Amino acid sequence: MSAPAAWPYPFWIAHRGAGRLAPENTLAAFALGRAYGYRMFECDARLSADGEVFLLHDDRLERTTDGRGEAVEQAWAALARLDAGAWHDPRHAGERLPMLAQVLAFCREHDCMLNVEIKPAPGDEVRTGRRVARVLALERFATPPLLSSFSPAAIAAASAVAPALPRGLLLETFRAGWRDDAGALGCVAVIAECAAWTPETAAQAAAAGLRRLAYTVNDDAEAERLRALGLDGLITDQVDHFRP
Ligand code: G3P
Ligand code: MG
Repeated sequence: MSAPAAWPYPFWIAHRGAGRLAPENTLAAFALGRAYGYRMFECDARLSADGEVFLLHDDRLERTTDGRGEAVEQAWAALARLDAGAWHDPRHAGERLPMLAQVLAFCREHDCMLNVEIKPAPGDEVRTGRRVARVLALERFATPPLLSSFSPAAIAAASAVAPALPRGLLLETFRAGWRDDAGALGCVAVIAECAAWTPETAAQAAAAGLRRLAYTVNDDAEAERLRALGLDGLITDQVDHFRP
């Protein structure tokens, strides 16, 4: 068992900026999460057709913008004009999809940390990993962002561009090969769906020298269960309930 690396991140991390209280993955969400005292945010980074890195969870535009179709098929100039706030609440009308660089500027200004989830469109894993890492490599950080992805190929591509950035492997379940993947990718953490954490999986991850995080933790009983397992961080939508 190797000793886990020093861990500079807070226990509570706001999912997609402020969870569900503001339009996810927008600057309004980060501002709201910060207003609730959060100092670390998870976000979903993906590519436009012309390779710009911006925040959006879904492959398609319909759920969280007034656009239509696959985001990766549209140039950034078109994506930048979309309304990414009105779907959530009329008072957020006019909120835009932020570029990752804008979110980095927000975090620099407000002394906040990031968990950047690389969210590749299907088949675009390597290009997305590389481009996200290139944007991050342009910055100087007091605390480096934690990179994560469900896609080992995306993490490997990011790691080749920015090897010093800490990496976390996202898991919906502790699938076959997860330890080999985390090791081969040089991950410092596994970030698993909360129900996947049991005493056994928590012990296995600890034995592999990995920090252990869970998503998306939204109720007290689950938060207490995971805390008792010794987890290092919880990602939540409930920024108005769980105070960091
Ligand atoms: O990064 C943790 C969590 O965000 C992964 O799932 O679908 O909410 O991006 P999802
Ligand atoms: Mg995510």
